[in-house]
Amino acid sequence: MQTIPVKASKSYNVHVGSKLLPTLGERLADLLPPPRHLLLVTDDTVAALYADTAADALEKAGYTVTRFVFASGEASKSTATLLRLWDKMAEVGLSRTDAVIALGGGVVGDLSGFAAATYLRGIACYMVPTTLLAMVDSAVGGKTAVDLTAGKNLCGVFAQPIGVLCDTDTLKTLPPEIFADGCAEVIKYGYIGDKELLCLLETPFDRAPERVIARCVDQKRSLVERDEQDGGCRQLLNLGHTGGHAVELLSSYSISHGRAVAIGMMLAARAAAALRLCEKGLPMHVENMLKRYHLPTECPYTARDLAEAALRDKKRRGDTLTLVLPRALGESVLYPIEITALERIFALGGAL
Ligand code: NAD
Ligand code: GLY
Repeated sequence: MQTIPVKASKSYNVHVGSKLLPTLGERLADLLPPPRHLLLVTDDTVAALYADTAADALEKAGYTVTRFVFASGEASKSTATLLRLWDKMAEVGLSRTDAVIALGGGVVGDLSGFAAATYLRGIACYMVPTTLLAMVDSAVGGKTAVDLTAGKNLCGVFAQPIGVLCDTDTLKTLPPEIFADGCAEVIKYGYIGDKELLCLLETPFDRAPERVIARCVDQKRSLVERDEQDGGCRQLLNLGHTGGHAVELLSSYSISHGRAVAIGMMLAARAAAALRLCEKGLPMHVENMLKRYHLPTECPYTARDLAEAALRDKKRRGDTLTLVLPRALGESVLYPIEITALERIFALGGAL
């Protein structure tokens, strides 16, 4: 097991390793000694696989556990599910010393984190991510949110969890396409700031993911510690996301987030080479890496459509937008532009 201590506005540990879920009760007891009431929040897919193991571990440690299970999928990251979750918290009488356990992917984590941060003006939330994406990204760093009809993640708060437990054995039940989506985020960490990770990724890591996940978490730790509120270097985590969000939107979400981010990284790498910001060979390195993990590399949309869709995204600040472009293997930079330049940059990046 590897433990990464995060020292943000609140400090907590991220544990990464095999056979950790059955130890959930002991880990939590170190932070919030029982007896207490816990609300175990999860989706129906994850509930069928892991809710019993998690609940048993917690009950054995002396906690009272109530489950809240919702339908899996992004559609559940809604104000409707949030209202039901708040009502459940009140119905079972969770108090300020009780806690929420978020068992699942990024949807469970974002929704549970937001509900916990707002119920009684904030109770503790412990994250138990079960997708690769959630382990390397969403469970760490304190971004919580629900989607509104107008767009994804439009309503949320920053609220750090009290701890994160990544049991890598849970990844064995992930459908391959969902694992591949997480791989896009893992690859992203390599190009943002970890050349050695790029070397590790030359060999597929699915059978021994601990070291790779821990490296990603450590990089996220470093960015969050320096810029918790996302005004500066944390924005490097958006590599591939300006183009990626536009691709997701234009496909009406039929292209998944990870695949869209892969296309977005490719656009960013080709644009960076065209702008002579990085060496000529970098786009080919990115392309080979993405193909190794069965991720797409070609953008099916025009530069104009991409720019129009990207400008609907919440990351725009007035008339400027900060892109993330790779500068070298294992190094990316923030690249502020006028929004009027975006279409040209997507065209340089190889959009239709
Ligand atoms: P998800 O939570 O929808 O999980 C994907 C699917 O995998 C679901 O159907 C789920 O039921 C299933 N699943 C989860 N764990 C499983 C397991 N171990 N075995 C089998 N099936 C399993 O999606 P995700 O990709 O984990 O997360 C995406 C969400 O994360 C988006 O809403 C995105 O906005 C959010 N996100 C948040 C942050 C952040 O910083 N808070 C960062 C990145 C993404
Ligand atoms: N996933 C982007 C961030 O946490 O900032």
